[in-house]
Amino acid sequence: MNAALVTSVRSMQEAVSEVRSSGRRIALVPTMGALHEGHLALIRKAASVADWVVTSVFVNPTQFGPGEDYERYPRDVQEDTRRALGAGSHVVFAPEPKEMYPEGYRTFVMPGAAADTLEGAIRPDHFRGVATVVAKLFNITMPHVAVFGQKDIQQAFIVRCLVRDLNMSVEILVEPTVREPDGLAMSSRNRYLSPDERSRAACLSRALKTAQALLQAGERSAAALRRAIEHELQKGAPTAIDYVAIVDPESFHAVDPVGPRGAVIALAARFGTTRLIDNAIIVPTPHEGNF
Ligand code: PAJ
Repeated sequence: MNAALVTSVRSMQEAVSEVRSSGRRIALVPTMGALHEGHLALIRKAASVADWVVTSVFVNPTQFGPGEDYERYPRDVQEDTRRALGAGSHVVFAPEPKEMYPEGYRTFVMPGAAADTLEGAIRPDHFRGVATVVAKLFNITMPHVAVFGQKDIQQAFIVRCLVRDLNMSVEILVEPTVREPDGLAMSSRNRYLSPDERSRAACLSRALKTAQALLQAGERSAAALRRAIEHELQKGAPTAIDYVAIVDPESFHAVDPVGPRGAVIALAARFGTTRLIDNAIIVPTPHEGNF
């Protein structure tokens, strides 16, 4: 039995209360496993701001809709544990679904309207599942700080709202998206892409770069930015573009024109049956964008 791998809620709570009473600072990195460099960057960040890092590995059934990839989502807890510990995690919390949602489970967290747009419009109840499992993970691991990725920017926004609205005392850090050399955002789902789809998928980050360059060249019209983004995406011949959204970073409401605060550009496109998302925070003044 590997002491760094915990599968029961009760053992996790016991370990957490011991660490807390010794005055150490706890960081949580919630994941669904299949850990890649993007996840490992979050774990390294967590290790730099806390004394004890918990990485959770749980493919959360309540955030998957019917017909999504819940069953085929890659699972390898042993390998994930090895990688998480290598990046500075002290423990991996990997419960079975029955441990998190036992018989008779009833309670769900309802996020607000931001959960019904973009990803939420295409994946109904997705963010209800995310908010619920994140709240449960916070209660189980009682972290001082939790680290999320900008890769899922709408999720990070909803988690910040969850913490603020439910008065949770955990600090939320959001770390930049880690990318492949051609710009494709790392994702557990990239492995579903055929070699041809994989090379076409680089159009997402190229579209974000185009938008940033246009904004800095003085273009403020969201409609014009959207047209340029769609044009760039089409070069990768996606099977479908689910959305190209230009929203206010503070509210997630659509903006047009883009103001001095800049905007979040959020994209979702399909290559074959694989859905990819990407985003960038673009600002009118020159900066090194993370895309
Ligand atoms: P998962 O998709 O495994 O992602 C776990 C965390 O890693 C999220 O905060 C996500 O934004 C971050 N991440 C993913 N790819 C990244 C990349 N290329 N660069 C930087 N960070 C990246 O998001 C989830 O799991 C789940 O919804 C979860 C929050 C665990 C709740 O079930």
